[in-house]
Amino acid sequence: MTPEQRQRIIEILLSGGEVAPEWSRILFPPEKREYELVYHGKEREEDIIANTLAVPLQPVRTFNKNGVEWHNKLIFGDNLQAMKTLLEMKRRGELCNADGTPGVRLVYIDPPFATMQEFHGSEDQKAYQDKVVGSRFVEFLRKRLVLIRELLSDDGAIYVHLDWKKVHYLKVIMDEVFGENHFRNEIVWHYPGREMHISNKYNAKHDTLLFYARSTATRIRMDQVAIPYDREERLKSLRRKVHVDESGSEWVWETRGQAAGQEAYKRYVDEIVEQGRALNDVWSDLQFLRGNHPERTGYPTQKPSELLERIIKGSSSEGDIVLDAFAGSGTTCAAAETLGRRWIGIDCGKLAIYTIQKRLLNLKAGIGNKGAPLKAKPFTLYNAGLYDFARLKDLPWNDWRRFALTLFGCQDEPQRIGGIQFDGTLKACPVQVFDHRCQGGATISEDTLRSVHEAVGSKIGTRMFIIAPSLAFDFQQDYIQGTSINPQNMLCLQHANQPI
Ligand SMILES: C[S@@+](CC[C@H](N)C(=O)[O-])C[C@H]1O[C@@H](n2cnc3c(N)ncnc32)[C@H](O)[C@@H]1O
Repeated sequence: MTPEQRQRIIEILLSGGEVAPEWSRILFPPEKREYELVYHGKEREEDIIANTLAVPLQPVRTFNKNGVEWHNKLIFGDNLQAMKTLLEMKRRGELCNADGTPGVRLVYIDPPFATMQEFHGSEDQKAYQDKVVGSRFVEFLRKRLVLIRELLSDDGAIYVHLDWKKVHYLKVIMDEVFGENHFRNEIVWHYPGREMHISNKYNAKHDTLLFYARSTATRIRMDQVAIPYDREERLKSLRRKVHVDESGSEWVWETRGQAAGQEAYKRYVDEIVEQGRALNDVWSDLQFLRGNHPERTGYPTQKPSELLERIIKGSSSEGDIVLDAFAGSGTTCAAAETLGRRWIGIDCGKLAIYTIQKRLLNLKAGIGNKGAPLKAKPFTLYNAGLYDFARLKDLPWNDWRRFALTLFGCQDEPQRIGGIQFDGTLKACPVQVFDHRCQGGATISEDTLRSVHEAVGSKIGTRMFIIAPSLAFDFQQDYIQGTSINPQNMLCLQHANQPI
C-alpha cells in the first residue's frame, strides 16, 4: 500500500465513511494467488456468501402431486438469493443425492452471454435482457459461481456454457473459484450452420462449455457417454485382424499396458462395438435447434436436449440432484426428468417459468420430446424474493413469522423487553414481527408504533426493527427525533417486492 493510499483510508475511516470494495481488498487481501483477474467492483468471496440474503421459498403450486416427499423445484426469482436459500437447505441436510452425499451433484448453467440484446419468445413476448456487460457481467457470474461451489456435493461437477465473448474471462474466474487443478475440459460444441462471407473474421460456429470438478473425487461416467459405433463400419476397420472362435463369434487381439510391458489379450468385436468410442472434447454431432424442430418451445436461446443428456449422463446418476440456475425453457429440467434425476430449475423471467411448466406437463419419454407421453414426477413452483402478499398473509402465524424473519436475514430468538414480545435479532438489535392478523390489518399504525416505543424506548440500544407489510402513515421528522425508531430501520415487505 502506498503512503497516499494509507492516508486516504485513514481519512475515510475518520470521517465515518464507507470503505469501498477496492479499498477493502487492499486492507484485507484474499489469500495470495500467483495471478488473478483484477477489475473494478470485485467483492471478497466471504462477503458474497455472507451478504447474500436467503429468501424464503413460497410454494405457489404443486403439479402431479402423488404423496412422495421430494418435489422437484421450479423457482421463480433471482438465482443468487435462491441459491443462498438452497445452501441453507443443504446445511440442514435437505439436499442429498441418491447415495446420501449432501449437495447438488451437477450444475449446468447457460447464462446470458453479454450480447447487449433483448430476447423475445416466438410470439414476441419479452423473455429476458442480456445487457449486463464488462466487469459487471464478470462479477455477476462470479458471485453465482461462488454460491454454486458451496452448493455442489464434494464430488460434484459444473458445466458453464458460454461463447467467445466472455469465455476467456470466465475461465480465469473459474480457476479462481474452483481451483485451476479442478479444471477438466473446455468442451467445444461445434454446430453446423449457414456460412456468411464476413470480411474481417471467420464465421463463429461453436459455443464453449467449461467443465470443472468440485474436487479430485469427481468422476465422469465415460461408459454412459461413449459414441456408439456403426457395427458395419467398425467391422470394416477391424476386418484384417478379425478371428472367429468355435462358436462363430468374432474377436481381435488388443494390447494393454505401457510400451515396455505390453500385454496382448482377446477381445470380442461385439463388446468393442457395444462399448463405443470414447468421447472427446469437440462435440460436433449435436444439432442447433432450428426452425420448426419438434423440440422447440418458442423460448429464445433454447439448447438441444441431447446436449444436456450427455452432460447429465456423464456427470450424475439416477436420483441425483441436477441444478440449472438459468433454466430458460427448462431443457435441463426436462432432460433430468426423462433420465430419472431430480432437478431444481431457477429463472427470474415469467416467460421462462411458464414455458418450463408447460414443457414438463407435456413431456415425452424420449430425449428431444420423442416417444410416449411421460408424466413428470411431482414438482413445485416457488416464488423466491417476489412474493404474493395476498397469499402470504393467510399463512398460519408461525409460518408467516418464520418467513418474515428469514426474508430479512434475522435470527429466530424470541425475547421479552418491557413487557413486549420480540421475535428475533438483526445486527444484535431486537426484531418484532408485526402481527397483521390481530392488530387490525396488514398495516402498522402510528399508535401501534408509539405504544411500542413507550414500552421499550429506553430499554433498547440505538434501534429496533419491526417487520410489517406496510405503513399506514408517513414518518414525521419530529416524531423520529429522540426516539429509537427511524424509518430506515422499518423493514417492509414491500422492499423485497421490488422487481430485481
Ligand atoms: C440463455 S437463457 C437459458 C436457456 C436454457 N439453457 C434453455 O435451454 O432454454 C438464460 C436464462 O437466464 C435467465 N436469467 C438471467 N439472469 C438471471 C438471474 N439473475 N436469476 C435467474 N435467472 C436469470 C434468463 O431469464 C434466461 O431465461
